[in-house]
Amino acid sequence: MKIFVDTANIEDIRKAYELGIVDGVTTNPTLMSKESGKSPQDIVMSIVDLVQGPVSVEVIGKTAEEMSKEARKWFAMNPDYIVIKIPMCSEGLKAMRILSEEGIPCNCTLIFSVNQGLLAAKVGAQYVSPFIGRIDDTGHDGMQLVEDLVDCLDYYEYDTEVIAASVRHPLHVTQAAQAGAHIATIPLSVIEKMIYHPLTEKGIQQFDNDWEKFIKASK
Ligand code: G3P
Repeated sequence: MKIFVDTANIEDIRKAYELGIVDGVTTNPTLMSKESGKSPQDIVMSIVDLVQGPVSVEVIGKTAEEMSKEARKWFAMNPDYIVIKIPMCSEGLKAMRILSEEGIPCNCTLIFSVNQGLLAAKVGAQYVSPFIGRIDDTGHDGMQLVEDLVDCLDYYEYDTEVIAASVRHPLHVTQAAQAGAHIATIPLSVIEKMIYHPLTEKGIQQFDNDWEKFIKASK
């Protein structure tokens, strides 16, 4: 399973990147709004320069024409790595069809049902992003959607990749992997929790102590 970092914060991305585990990045307007003081273009270009992998940038237009126009501008900034994030809606579907035909990769976001994912795949979206945590918040099982979407897209042999998004804790990542998600997009705080285990910490401490005793005794 590929790992994307779900943030627009370059320092968080750098920390994850230095671990050697980053395959790409996803942003959205909310995440971008937390990076005040920099232009959206500067934020995105610094992420692309660092990661050299797919970086999803969301359009905010309301019509297919507005979305496509915005998408082309973003894509032209780096056709190797920029992916256009488009919200699931009728105009979004039209825009994704147009952009996919132009060879511009799209990540269909705000997916909350198999039907929405199926429609996005049908118009050529390269990625679909089911929002796990937000489904869990409503008292339903977000991970079931990932499992169902993976099965459905595999069954019909779509190339569309499922990105488990709105990941809130390490168990989401484990379950996304078990469900066969192609990618999980994860905030740095969750990546850090994935590394930690109290028994690992205890084990390191014990090895250090025993080694120190051994060296002292052998002098
Ligand atoms: O990838 C989508 C993500 O940024 C949304 O996460 O936690 O706001 O539901 P959250």
